[in-house]
Amino acid sequence: VSPELDLFLEIEKLKKEKNAIILAHYYQEADIQDVADYIGDSLGLAQQAEKTTADMIVFAGVHFMAETAKILNPDKKVVLPDLKAGCSLADSAPGHLFQAFKERYPDHLVISYINCSAEVKALSDIICTSSNAQKIVESLPADQKIIFAPDRNLGAYLIKKTGRDMVLWDGACMVHEIFSLEKITKLKIRHPNAKLIAHPECEEPILRLADYIGSTTGLLNFTKKDPSMEYIVATETGILHQMQLSSPQKTFIPAPPTNNCACNDCPHMKLNTLEKLYLCMKYEQPELLMDPTLMVAARKPIERMLEISA
Ligand code: 13P
Ligand code: SF4
Repeated sequence: VSPELDLFLEIEKLKKEKNAIILAHYYQEADIQDVADYIGDSLGLAQQAEKTTADMIVFAGVHFMAETAKILNPDKKVVLPDLKAGCSLADSAPGHLFQAFKERYPDHLVISYINCSAEVKALSDIICTSSNAQKIVESLPADQKIIFAPDRNLGAYLIKKTGRDMVLWDGACMVHEIFSLEKITKLKIRHPNAKLIAHPECEEPILRLADYIGSTTGLLNFTKKDPSMEYIVATETGILHQMQLSSPQKTFIPAPPTNNCACNDCPHMKLNTLEKLYLCMKYEQPELLMDPTLMVAARKPIERMLEISA
């Protein structure tokens, strides 16, 4: 791509030419967020994908999110900037191992966090995201036995919140497990008025310290309404862009990781660049293609979630 090309302008042209919609997750780099038609958390993105009238969905996020958009729109073209943008959490639950796990608990229903493969979704009864997980768990009868997969941290948080005894799959997100309790505690001493806000994929000791816990949209909305001027943000750093745009007068400090690299950047989310976004719109590839039978099986538990969250 020629360095003289104004990618922002070209992307706008391509959107109109191809009747395309760009859906972006909050963990995308700022430039991608700035050209997106919709920026959201996993639930918001699934809801937008369900109702779009665009001919082509350009999904700036990771593979499981684009898969969800495709499952909801089997007849539409779904393209993504980089097909290799995966997810450590989704990878922690390979379909065949999850199937064997599920067989050990024949009288349990399966609630799966949306951060999983289409194969795991097809083995699930209902999907949830971090913004509706509690509601989804509580929508089942109190005596219903439940398997929750694949995030053990979100699962443990839900057990604490709902009192339900759930069997957990042992998976986690590499980004949300990297935060240092010791460094956050020191940071809180230096910034006594700062509130710690955390995503429920974080480990329990971090969540115990948090002033607010929520999905990316939940965290962003909290910082808009809350009167504090300073926040320590325990989630992927991409969300800081919208926080700073919504509250320019406030200070947002990324929660420090245990080592000194920028490990609270998701390496999968950050595989996407503005240039790759432009190229995927121009050439309409990589395109996400899926097995039709798998799509039908994975759609049911997603639809159940969307009905409960409407
Ligand atoms: P939400 O944006 O739904 O909170 O999900 C966070 C996440 O880790 C997505 O990969
Ligand atoms: Fe997966 Fe974690 Fe990256 Fe989200 S932040 S895509 S859960 S690895």
